[in-house]
Amino acid sequence: METLRNKILKYGHAIDENILKVDSFLNHQVDPNLMYDIGTNFKNYFKDKNITKVFTIESSGIAPAVMTALQMNIPMVTLKKNTSKILNDDFYQTTIHSFTKEIDYTLTLSKKYITSKDNILIVDDFLANGEAASGACRLVEEIGAKVAGIGIVIEKSFQPGRKLLDDKGYDVYSLARISKLGKGLIEFIK
Ligand code: G4P
Repeated sequence: METLRNKILKYGHAIDENILKVDSFLNHQVDPNLMYDIGTNFKNYFKDKNITKVFTIESSGIAPAVMTALQMNIPMVTLKKNTSKILNDDFYQTTIHSFTKEIDYTLTLSKKYITSKDNILIVDDFLANGEAASGACRLVEEIGAKVAGIGIVIEKSFQPGRKLLDDKGYDVYSLARISKLGKGLIEFIK
């Protein structure tokens, strides 16, 4: 997505070889027009997949996910992050490890917002190690629902997440694919 790549080049900031700051339009301040265009792109790519709900992971995935759901005219559901298991039968949960933040957390989903008939599109802001996305897929599949695809705003293709999800057979569509980061350097896969 050319407008996204241009935005990343103009306002993104690579703080080292691993981390890209995009606080001015995605992770802190949010550009609603860009989010709308992101929603359009995801809708166009996944339009024939009979998607019933868009899922995202709290919190920065919410803006692109809600715009995608708006354009598909279906609900968006946020998988909430908890630090521990809730001992309660009303929820589904799975544990995720974040390599970037070196913590474990639990993804929580109310049983009210999914059935085994659902066909889910997972949307998230970053794909790094792929633990969050594969945990979200695991949660959906353990319930007996289907993962129709995964929409990523910014993929750091040099980290393991893309290969992990490809190897599991998911349809992963990333709007910007970064091949290399360094101080002041941002390169995309052509
Ligand atoms: P993974 O899901 O792909 O395995 O990634 P990981 O756990 O390593 O990432 C942890 C958090 O760090 C996620 O945000 C992810 O979006 C974010 N992240 C990873 N790489 C980058 C990066 O290069 N730049 C920025 N800005 N963020 C990155 P989170 O903890 O879920 O926080 P939130 O922002 O969604 O609330």
